[in-house]
Amino acid sequence: MEASRIEVAVALDMSLGESPVWSVARQTLYWADINNGHVYAWRPQQGGTPSRTELGEKVGCVALAESGLVVATASGILRLPESGEPERLADNPEWDGEQSQGNRFNDGRCDAAGRLWAGTIASDEASPTAALYCLDRGQLTQHLPGIGISNGLAFSPDRRWLYHTDSLSRRILRYPFDVDSGTLGEGETWVDLKALGLPGVPDGAAVDSEGCYWSALYDGGRVVRFSPEGELVAEHEVPCPHPTMVAFGGADLRTLYITTATQHLDAEGKARWPQAGNLLQMQAGVAGLAEPGFSQA
Ligand code: BGC
Ligand code: CA
Repeated sequence: MEASRIEVAVALDMSLGESPVWSVARQTLYWADINNGHVYAWRPQQGGTPSRTELGEKVGCVALAESGLVVATASGILRLPESGEPERLADNPEWDGEQSQGNRFNDGRCDAAGRLWAGTIASDEASPTAALYCLDRGQLTQHLPGIGISNGLAFSPDRRWLYHTDSLSRRILRYPFDVDSGTLGEGETWVDLKALGLPGVPDGAAVDSEGCYWSALYDGGRVVRFSPEGELVAEHEVPCPHPTMVAFGGADLRTLYITTATQHLDAEGKARWPQAGNLLQMQAGVAGLAEPGFSQA
């Protein structure tokens, strides 16, 4: 394992930091604390404390939009304009608003055509009742039903593959992807953590400019990098057991931001892993890719 220098970017006490995404135009990193319903925005060049928006419900993922952001929450998908009220774009079909229960949205990101792909997570984090969805021009379509925890969504730079994991399976699959129609072909196992002897489960991911897939291993205390062929090419130890997702950012897109969680740590665990709950960063040694935003033109 590589002894990479991982440092604190922003000291926070997040329960479930997640979904970092970098805006090149705004030179701003956004991310969420899912459990607390917070969305953060931070400009590293300015430093200081990030700004925080409270959504009043769990928020699984954050994506860029032409102005502001799009978020997938427990109840549905919302546009968050830079100023003014949120606009509801779609309801979560797995959420019962009256009962405030069901499967909330979890991981997601936009494809190069401006669709939002977002998956859900079973409320018991165990049963195969969740799915991956795509929001395209106001239409929410279910693509991969029968999963437990939708995670790790990413695209190859040539747009030919969609990567996705049901974290519970400990495998990452890839699906032939047609960016023009937004359709998926038959999935195939691309990485199997068990076969590689890797710990934890595959959580969030980002693809770099060489087409390699960086995956945060939740409960595995590391970030790993896979080649486009699915070979393990690097392992970076993270100073806490629950890294959740990574994003490339900074002026040259070569800083890797890593979100982390405290939700599965007791008092002893928190004392042992004081970095848990922070936003972390390391120099990746390779540039990332500019993240496409949500666009329904
Ligand atoms: C989910 C967490 C879950 C973790 C590991 C995250 O994407 O939001 O609730 O514990 O993945 O599977
Ligand atoms: Ca995740």
